[in-house]
Amino acid sequence: MIQKTKIIKTLIIIFSLTFPLSAHAMTVEEIIKGRKAMFSENYQNAKKISILLKSKKIEEAKPLMKKISDNYIKLLDYFPENTKEGFKTGALPSIWENKDEFNALMQKASDDMIKLAKAIETAEDLRAVQKELMWSNCTACHSKFRAPH
Ligand code: HEC
Repeated sequence: MIQKTKIIKTLIIIFSLTFPLSAHAMTVEEIIKGRKAMFSENYQNAKKISILLKSKKIEEAKPLMKKISDNYIKLLDYFPENTKEGFKTGALPSIWENKDEFNALMQKASDDMIKLAKAIETAEDLRAVQKELMWSNCTACHSKFRAPH
């Protein structure tokens, strides 16, 4: 009997050493609120980019593009299976039915922000290039994966 408890205790220790991060796992609430906050931040930054580019402030706009791009990459981890509902999520079930497509759109949106930072150096029409590499990705994803609001 003593042996058995010892073995169990040893297993618990090994498990907690192997998976130390499980103690810090985010709750469903933290994940849903976390992704909403990142999308909102992206929206604020996208609007700032538009304003900056109207007055040709290209260098000031570039770090914001990098920030949006980084947020999209982080967002890839913010749609686990257990976060389909609750906390006023606007995420549609279609995300989990088409996870590869959703992730590919997120990755494309991220890559396009890096392309945009490059393109604005030479683009003639800054509005057109923003539409193509920034705003169109919002609509492409929302039309299929975000609830109408
Ligand atoms: C690859 C998919 C995808 C892309 C690209 C994307 N979004 Fe979203 N967005 C979503 C989803 C899904 C939600 C719903 C998240 C939730 O409520 O859990 C959302 C939510 C939002 C919200 C609401 C956040 C809140 O507080 O509830 C805003 C604002 C937003 N997106 C703006 C944008 C803008 C602006 C862009 C482009 C610059 C963009 N999104 C690009 C998928 C995307």
